[in-house]
Amino acid sequence: MIEVCAGSDCVMMGSMDIIESIDGLKSLKSQLRLQKQIEIVPVKCMGYCKNGACAPVVKVDDEVIQNATSETVMSYIISQMASNK
Ligand code: FES
Repeated sequence: MIEVCAGSDCVMMGSMDIIESIDGLKSLKSQLRLQKQIEIVPVKCMGYCKNGACAPVVKVDDEVIQNATSETVMSYIISQMASNK
């Protein structure tokens, strides 16, 4: 499961663009022959920003990605999928 923070700090730093990009990955999934489900859940502020973490914050399974960009999140997801084949 991919939790994308939809709290104000993270939205301001582009978390909604990340959701769009990951959504685009769904259509690429069959072409890349990736089996794993991609479930994107926008969540309320996870509190990381208050502990000094850099927005935007995305959580993929249990891995917290700070300062996330579409590229870092997508490449993490793809690498996870490739290793979980
Ligand atoms: S707004 Fe995203 S962790 Fe707080």
